[in-house]
Amino acid sequence: MRISVIGCGYLGAVHASAMAELGHEVIGIDVDERKIAALAAGRPPFFEPGLPEILTSATATGRLRFSTDIADAAAAEVHFLAVGTPQTAGTNAADVSYVDAAFEGLLPHLAEGALVVGKSTVPVGTAARLAGRLAESAPHASLAWNPEFLREGFAVKDTLEPDRLVYGVAHEHVTSVLDQVYRAAIEAGTPRLVTDYATAELVKVAANAFLATKISFINAMAEIADATGADVTALADAIGHDARIGRRFLNAGIGFGGGCLPKDIRAFTARAEELGRGDSLEFLKEVDTINLRQRKRVVDLAVAALGGSAHRARIAVLGVTFKPESDDVRDSPALDVAVQLKGLGAEVVATDPEGIENAKRKHPQLTYVESTREALRGADLVVLATEWREYRALDAEETARLVAGRSIIDGRNVLDPAAWRAAGWTYRGLGRP
Ligand code: UDX
Repeated sequence: MRISVIGCGYLGAVHASAMAELGHEVIGIDVDERKIAALAAGRPPFFEPGLPEILTSATATGRLRFSTDIADAAAAEVHFLAVGTPQTAGTNAADVSYVDAAFEGLLPHLAEGALVVGKSTVPVGTAARLAGRLAESAPHASLAWNPEFLREGFAVKDTLEPDRLVYGVAHEHVTSVLDQVYRAAIEAGTPRLVTDYATAELVKVAANAFLATKISFINAMAEIADATGADVTALADAIGHDARIGRRFLNAGIGFGGGCLPKDIRAFTARAEELGRGDSLEFLKEVDTINLRQRKRVVDLAVAALGGSAHRARIAVLGVTFKPESDDVRDSPALDVAVQLKGLGAEVVATDPEGIENAKRKHPQLTYVESTREALRGADLVVLATEWREYRALDAEETARLVAGRSIIDGRNVLDPAAWRAAGWTYRGLGRP
């Protein structure tokens, strides 16, 4: 099929490459010339395992092209809207102006019978509004809402082999068009749910709200575990055996961040308030509060570990990205903790396998080093903030030889406390005795 993807940020660049990988003829459109030039040269402007390979092969064959001119999307039968919906400054609501601009820009270029497919995470009601605009300006075209559930670090796999496909449609014929787009996944038996627009929009934010709630739930249990001497990791294992609960997303620690979960739960509560149903999602505010409290707890633990003051202490912060296998530092708990410690007068030395460049742009006041050894050298305290494989594999004895003080805060509960204590370390996790 001939496909356009409007918006070549994280979601769009992965989606465009994956669609080309499936054999479709794809054009990616973005207003950012530098981004388009990089993608056209086969270089993703962010780190994502597996993406360079599929991007390079698709651009080399000509199946995937990029342009800054939306008119170049005119030949496509299916147009995916994959622009961002960031948090509006000063409020919790999602800013849909990029979606609106992309949609309006596309309208004059829609071929007879074209299908516009929304992928962006939007406030419920957006699709119905856009469908109204389409009926006025391009009644021959149709609209679908097809949310995306990809995780950073697994984005290529999640796009090529999704857990489920959700089509929000107003007319049945749209379903068969989307089935052609996703033929490979459908043939592989991927569950496909066809719903109305509002349900499709809600599926996305409900899924993220549930995941965020699961993480804050276990972090609340970690707080109780800390007060009682219980072990939240064992607790998570035990409740996770209940198939109704499940073990995944029950890792207590520094909390969730990134470009989706924090912003999506805030935008969802803001939308519920607009709908006069603020009470229904009041609990998500508590989910957000618990989450932000974890960062403060790590900072408090650090100050306590340093004997009551972080002033002039040298602290090695391992990890600045919001999760491993990503260079994304948006709303990163790790970076937030590093900044808070710096604010307390500590000499923070941060490191990360992929995130330093992005972190530097955001918080140039911190000291960044490339190597873990360099970060650890002479540290009074070590804070493991993002669970990169390299940090999980740290050897307690070897690390002890580099630092000035054997004190570690395991913000992700990934180290073996017994091994670290045996090597003479003061080990502190979150919700671990
Ligand atoms: C999330 C959703 O998982 C994905 O389906 C959606 O499309 C976009 O938002 P992503 O932001 O890539 O994906 O990250 P995810 O793997 O969900 O992790 C989110 C945050 O939660 C990270 O900061 C991670 O460290 C944290 N987390 C996750 C925990 O603190 N504990 C857990 O048990 C799991």
